[in-house]
Amino acid sequence: MLRTKVKALLQMQPGDTVLAKGWVRTKRGNKQVKFIALNDGSTVNNIQVVADMTRFDEELMKRITTGASLAVTGKLVASVGSGQAVEIQAESIEVYGECDPMRYPLQKKDTSFEYLRSVAHMRLRTNTFGAVLRLRHAMAFAIHQFFNDRGFVYLNTPLITESDAEGAGDMFQVTTLDLAKVPVHNGKVDFSKDFFGKKTSLTVSGQLEGELGATAVGEIYTFGPTFRAENSNTPRHLAEFWMIEPEMAFYDIYDNMELAEAFVKYLVQYALDHNYDDLKFLNDKYDDGLIARLQSVLGIPFQRVTYTEAVEILEAAVAAGHHFEYPVHWGTDFQSEHERYLVEAHFGKPVILIDFPKDIKAFYMKQNEDGRTVRGMDVLFPKIGEIIGGSEREASLEKLEARIDELGMSRKNLEWYIDTRRYGTVPHSGFGLGFERLLLFITGMNNIRDVIPFPRTPKNAEF
Ligand code: 4AD
Ligand code: MG
Repeated sequence: MLRTKVKALLQMQPGDTVLAKGWVRTKRGNKQVKFIALNDGSTVNNIQVVADMTRFDEELMKRITTGASLAVTGKLVASVGSGQAVEIQAESIEVYGECDPMRYPLQKKDTSFEYLRSVAHMRLRTNTFGAVLRLRHAMAFAIHQFFNDRGFVYLNTPLITESDAEGAGDMFQVTTLDLAKVPVHNGKVDFSKDFFGKKTSLTVSGQLEGELGATAVGEIYTFGPTFRAENSNTPRHLAEFWMIEPEMAFYDIYDNMELAEAFVKYLVQYALDHNYDDLKFLNDKYDDGLIARLQSVLGIPFQRVTYTEAVEILEAAVAAGHHFEYPVHWGTDFQSEHERYLVEAHFGKPVILIDFPKDIKAFYMKQNEDGRTVRGMDVLFPKIGEIIGGSEREASLEKLEARIDELGMSRKNLEWYIDTRRYGTVPHSGFGLGFERLLLFITGMNNIRDVIPFPRTPKNAEF
């Protein structure tokens, strides 16, 4: 007999004899009858298995504990109990693997997120992480769907690179040199002896290579792992995260904003349309505002504000007695508390900030006429702050080179990038969406460590 997944079983009409396989969530009952809740990960919901004890012996039942894996054959019947339409009247039960109730880590009373992080190899089996994993998958699928429908080309950019795209300097070095005896030349590490013959690191962004793709095939996107060695122990930072970076020839900053807004709205709508069970579970268990918050970003246009206007709003808030931990004035980079004030307290909707001071943004952003701001763009969301960072790119060869020099960066290492401006330069734009930041919004989880299966953060690279 073919196995049917629990998700499909729960949608079937009663009548057929079926085979279900999965892991035991709970077992309860009495001497006459046992009720086993079986889950196979296809849905957050369980199928109830009813075992009439005139057919099964106590010895078998003792082996069926939380976490044990089973194959159950039986008739799918209408359920008398509330909570499910159908259940399986068990005819035979095979135990694949027992699960020692004394040792099984998910047996513990402590189900806090902190505890579950310490057993991250097992936490995937909880209802909560099942829901998160299915939503994560659905969002990844929807991202490819969105761009494919619009004719974008999926571009794979290197993970090992020489370039520090963001100029932030927080990179993980990649080396095969023996750290106990590094080769030295004129008092400095001799990277010509290293694997690539130069100093290399893990990428902080695929954007610069993405621009090469966009100025060749028009519209591309990347979707891959991204690494940042910044020592930020916050609920919104990972050392290894995933980023989606679309890059589009012939887009100005306004086209860029429209694409970013359409993109995140599409993803939110997709989750509501395809993963409602998981959202409802998370909504009811942790955050009863989740579904309403997801719906709230769909119907309305995002608020567009310049950085300068935003500073005025924040300064007015301070003048009116609002306390921020970090000071804010023209020229400062906003902290998440400032971003959230704008989104949650002031506008009550997602905000797209543009026209930032050039000194707090990367070298590649298009310079405005005023000489002090650039065409950067950040999309800010409720509960999270920044989920997207992007810009129109500086298309002028002269201005780009001047900015690289002004920042004391090496033009030599960037010649390949500057070539895009030398040969058939075009106005173009792009942005980066932090995949886990998106998932924080979609799932309502509060900590970014709980939306990626195996989080990497300072002092933590387990599993
Ligand atoms: O704002 P960022 O640094 O922009 C870039 O990297 C550009 N190259 C993007 C582009 O224009 N193509 O990062 C983009 C997004 C942020 O808005 C945030 O959502 C996410 O990446 N992000 C992180 N997510 C988790 N952990 C971290 N340490 C992150 N750093 C950035
Ligand atoms: Mg940013």
